[in-house]
This record gives sequence, structure tokens and C-alpha cells, in this order.
Amino acid sequence: MSKQCEMQSSSCNFHSNGPLLQTEQSIRSEVSAISPLVDKLMAFIKKCQCVPGNEIEVEISLREALANSVVHGNHEDTDKHVYVNCSCVPDEEVSIVVRDEGTGFSSADLPDPTAAEHLRSMHGRGIYLMKSFMDEVRFERGGTAVYMRKKAAKAHDRGRSSL
Ligand SMILES: Nc1ncnc2c1ncn2[C@@H]1O[C@H](COP(=O)(O)OP(=O)(O)OP(=O)(O)O)[C@@H](O)[C@H]1O
Ligand SMILES: [Mg+2]
Repeated sequence: MSKQCEMQSSSCNFHSNGPLLQTEQSIRSEVSAISPLVDKLMAFIKKCQCVPGNEIEVEISLREALANSVVHGNHEDTDKHVYVNCSCVPDEEVSIVVRDEGTGFSSADLPDPTAAEHLRSMHGRGIYLMKSFMDEVRFERGGTAVYMRKKAAKAHDRGRSSL
């Protein structure tokens, strides 16, 4: 287990559509802690087979959400933590909540990164990517938490990446 991962718990319960596999993780607010956590969560997601063939979209979205929480939410304050709750229903969907200890923000008035005046900007694409790759992205708790959900592709669409 990564040293940066301070708490781990996993469980298996039952959902109307089958087993519900969950894991809770947290990291200190350091950029270097993001990749080990992404690797660990993606291994869990792949093992659960909740979005077979679409893991890369979830990985990109997860990485963007964690980066936002560590950098914008907690301002890389190592006394603060980022918490992740990941729930998988095999062959159905994955849902992920990333929560930080910051003051939040308003997601309503974010600039559109595809607008001509922003195309050359080096930033401002993370949330756009998350919304492009996931089926649902919702900000909660005043912007200190983001809820994301991706449904499994139908069996005949698997392998046709949306990237
Ligand atoms: N957890 C958060 N806490 C506080 N502010 C946030 C949080 N997440 C996003 N934001 C705000 O929303 C803005 C847009 O986020 P987004 O991820 O789209 O772009 P970015 O982080 O600025 O750049 P990029 O992700 O492309 O490197 C951020 O600049 C920040 O102001
Ligand atoms: Mg970002």
C-alpha cells in the first residue's frame, strides 16, 4: 500500500442490480500523492469490471477532480486531506465522490474553454473534460465535493472508445 494513502476501507454490499463494491481512500494534499491514488483506484475499478473498456475516461476525470481538490480546494496544505469514495456495480456503473477541505467555489460561472478567447489558455479544461467523459458530474457541498458517475457501455459498443 502507498505510504501516502492513509486510510483504506473496502466493502461489498448488495444493490438492486447486483453487488455494490465500495472503497474509501484519502490522501494528504500533495500533488505527488495523486498518481498513486489514481493507480490504486483504477486497479479497483478494473477488477470490479464496472465500466469495461471505458476505464481511461474515468481515470482522466478522477485525475482532474483530485488535482482540483489538492490544488484549488486545499491549496496543497498538507494538513488538509482529500477524501474519495468509489462505488462500483459490475457491468453497470461507477460513481465517485471527491471531497476536499477547502471553501468551495461556484461551478455556475466557469468560462467555456472552447470559446475562441480561451482556446490558447493553459488552464480551465479539467471540469470540461470531466463533463465530457462522465455521464453525470455534480458539484455538492458548495463546490467542496464533486460527484461523478459513468455507466457501462452496452456490450456491443465495448471497445469503441469515446476518446
Ligand atoms: N475543489 C475546488 N475548490 C475550489 N475551486 C475549484 C475546485 N475545483 C475547481 N475549482 C475552480 O474551478 C476552476 C476550473 O477548474 P478546471 O479544472 O476546469 O480548470 P483548472 O483547474 O483551472 O485548469 P486545468 O484543470 O485545465 O489545469 C479552477 O480554476 C478553480 O477556480
Ligand atoms: Mg483543474
